[in-house]
Amino acid sequence: MINFTLTMDVSFDFSSKVVLISGGTGALGRTLVKKFIASGAVTISSFLNEKEAKKLKIENPKVELTKLDMLNEGQLLKTIPQLKRQFGTINILVNVVGGYLGGRTIIDLSETDWDAMMNLNLKSAFLITKHIIPLMKSGNGGNIVHISSRTGLKSEGGDSAYAASKAGLIRFVESAAQEFKEFNININCILPTLIDTDANRKAIPNGDFSKWLSAEDLANVILFLCSSGGRVINGSAIPTYGLS
Ligand SMILES: NC(=O)c1ccc[n+]([C@@H]2O[C@H](COP(=O)([O-])OP(=O)(O)OC[C@H]3O[C@@H](n4cnc5c(N)ncnc54)[C@H](OP(=O)(O)O)[C@@H]3O)[C@@H](O)[C@H]2O)c1
Repeated sequence: MINFTLTMDVSFDFSSKVVLISGGTGALGRTLVKKFIASGAVTISSFLNEKEAKKLKIENPKVELTKLDMLNEGQLLKTIPQLKRQFGTINILVNVVGGYLGGRTIIDLSETDWDAMMNLNLKSAFLITKHIIPLMKSGNGGNIVHISSRTGLKSEGGDSAYAASKAGLIRFVESAAQEFKEFNININCILPTLIDTDANRKAIPNGDFSKWLSAEDLANVILFLCSSGGRVINGSAIPTYGLS
């Protein structure tokens, strides 16, 4: 009889690295925080919600927290230099900020809905990339991973704003990777399908959870992309839906 291990236990060594996880208080973000700390990295998570930040600190006493709205360029202009003063540099950025809006036809979609998706999934990626790159350029380079979605490749309908924002993120990553490859900065994104999170289980109680992605598996891919093993991968949208 064959025994399958549902989630691989993969270990990495990031002991000389400083990592910023934007959105580290979310479902995937929390797993990334735990794994980067376990790999020895100085791990900083941004947050908006104080209660979620407190929970994250209790679960991971070593996490460094910074309150930062990724849609507010003024806050980024203040906070990134502060982080540089405190930690010396940032070697790795994993931008987990994002959200979903579906089940709505284009006719029913408001201008506010459209703008909210573009801001949350696309503008946030542009702003944090813009303000982290100078820090990486002045150091020894770095790694950036954004979270797009398989829906950014192919939509099933009812999610036009989400799909367009995640598709835009794939092209943004390609463009940014070309612009900064000479500075030893790798920029990629991953393309998850449904992740097995509490929020998704609540929203889709009758779903087949066994087909959903584990945050742990996605985190392994992200840590690999940020490791020296992933150095030849740049400007890519990595399919992470192979099991669904
Ligand atoms: N969940 C899925 O099934 C799925 C599937 C495909 C792709 N994705 C993508 O994967 C990523 C992570 O998903 P998730 O389910 O882990 O999301 P999540 O649990 O909703 O977490 C989102 C995170 O983004 C933060 N955030 C939201 N707006 C922000 C802003 N303006 N400034 C700073 N931080 C902000 C939240 O912070 P606070 O908690 O402090 O508000 C939270 O930490 C997202 O990009 C999502 O689109 C998810």
